[in-house]
Amino acid sequence: MEKRFWLDCWAEQRIGFHLPEINPHLQRHWDGLAVPAGGRVLVPLCGKSLDMLWLREKGYEVLGVELSDIALQDFSRENELSLEWSREGGFASACCDGLTLLKGDFFHLQARQVGELTAVYDRAALVALPASMRPSYVEQVTRLLAPGAAGLLVSIDYPEGAMAGPPFSVPAAEVMALYEDAFEVNLLETGDVLKANPRLAEKGIKYLRKQVWGLRRR
Ligand SMILES: C[S@@+](CC[C@H](N)C(=O)[O-])C[C@H]1O[C@@H](n2cnc3c(N)ncnc32)[C@H](O)[C@@H]1O
Repeated sequence: MEKRFWLDCWAEQRIGFHLPEINPHLQRHWDGLAVPAGGRVLVPLCGKSLDMLWLREKGYEVLGVELSDIALQDFSRENELSLEWSREGGFASACCDGLTLLKGDFFHLQARQVGELTAVYDRAALVALPASMRPSYVEQVTRLLAPGAAGLLVSIDYPEGAMAGPPFSVPAAEVMALYEDAFEVNLLETGDVLKANPRLAEKGIKYLRKQVWGLRRR
């Protein structure tokens, strides 16, 4: 997806992907990953996800990376964070109490800019990217994570061509193909969530499966 697409989404507030509550899959599965307390969690393509605050509450240091200034300004204002921005290596960054936000293109982030990361949380990041960008995204995640790092990935899967993404359908076989060289991959949960998305059901989509994956960097 072109950067312009996402910047326009934020400018026009077309952000149906944003959840006004903590993601239930995160709450259900995070503890099972046994990420050490105090670990540093990467949240790529973070938007203004409240999940970052939940992870911080759990005692992790959170590093959110996002392209859109509007997303990060909204996140800061809506959650009454007092952020001071500075600029380093193509990224603007702001820190406050266990939370660091980097504004810029995730694909340009260098390992030396992020320090050691012990986990990644991906909700609506991999599936926000078209197929051509997914291998580079997974390579970038792999490069940034320390060996042994854990991950939680939420993906979706629907019949090919049933709708124009994002979100894109990323079938289980593709998740395995993308991650299995560098990660142990475990399917933690799967289920059809079409009923909970009546707008998509009305479009005649036959199924909409959500998969939750546990990852462990080799
Ligand atoms: C579908 S949204 C998901 C946001 C968030 N993960 C959530 O669960 O609400 C995808 C986000 O990725 C951001 N994004 C897209 N491409 C990016 C890139 N190359 N670098 C950083 N952020 C990017 C978009 O601006 C958008 O906020």
